[in-house]
Amino acid sequence: MTFDVINEETAIDVRGVGKSFSNGDQSTLVLRGVDFSVRRGEVMFIVGPSGCGKTTLLSILCGTLRADHGEVHALGMPLHAIPQPEVTQFRSKNVGFIFQQFNLLPTLTAAENVAVPLLIQGVPLAEAVKRASRMLASVGISEKSGERPNRLSGGQQQRVAIARALVHEPPIVVCDEPTSALDSASGHQIMKLLSEVARDASRSVIVVSHDPRIYGYADRIAEMEDGRILRVGESRHHVLN
Ligand SMILES: Nc1ncnc2c1ncn2[C@@H]1O[C@H](COP(=O)(O)OP(=O)(O)O)[C@@H](O)[C@H]1O
Ligand SMILES: [Mg+2]
Repeated sequence: MTFDVINEETAIDVRGVGKSFSNGDQSTLVLRGVDFSVRRGEVMFIVGPSGCGKTTLLSILCGTLRADHGEVHALGMPLHAIPQPEVTQFRSKNVGFIFQQFNLLPTLTAAENVAVPLLIQGVPLAEAVKRASRMLASVGISEKSGERPNRLSGGQQQRVAIARALVHEPPIVVCDEPTSALDSASGHQIMKLLSEVARDASRSVIVVSHDPRIYGYADRIAEMEDGRILRVGESRHHVLN
């Protein structure tokens, strides 16, 4: 199957996206017609107050959640129009996730946690562990490969989470509040590391945050309020360093 590619520079394109959540007979309109796109090779921040819809938008643009209406193209794939199993397959191949709470599996070692996305894709165990170890080395904690998450500091756990997000070399990396569980110094360390290891001419990194300390790591910043993107601006690089 082939798809219209909107533009070679565009990785993700979101048009007229709306989303509500219903709890019983109460329905909350969370996204009110979002238009927005992310280029290849850029670090795009989505910023705005708590509850404005950032996590919902991030989930929709990477295929974790379906919009009620509107269109979402990611790497040319119409995520709004293809069956769920294909969306899931798209996501496991093309998207790396970094969450606020790290979401590491407590019973697995650091290396095993990092190997998970490869195992999901059918990479044999021995090779997956080898690639996971290399990835842990590139985020500077190879000596922690055999440790379980509860033996690691918050910053170290976040490094493991970054390694896990990048190990299958996804063209799209999404980060939801990657620094909000960390103190300021660890937050900067993590963003520097993320800028170094996740930056790639063909990779898009999308960071949701309401932590102004890290906005300087963006190439562009989309400001969100009450379910809408208000404006998208270029960022001055590393102004906060
Ligand atoms: N699964 C859900 N069910 C019901 N309401 C939800 C759900 N997820 C989010 N919401 C509501 O949608 C709004 C936006 O949430 P969210 O996208 O998480 O905002 P943000 O990430 O900007 O804090 C909030 O009012 C939240 O309570
Ligand atoms: Mg959120």
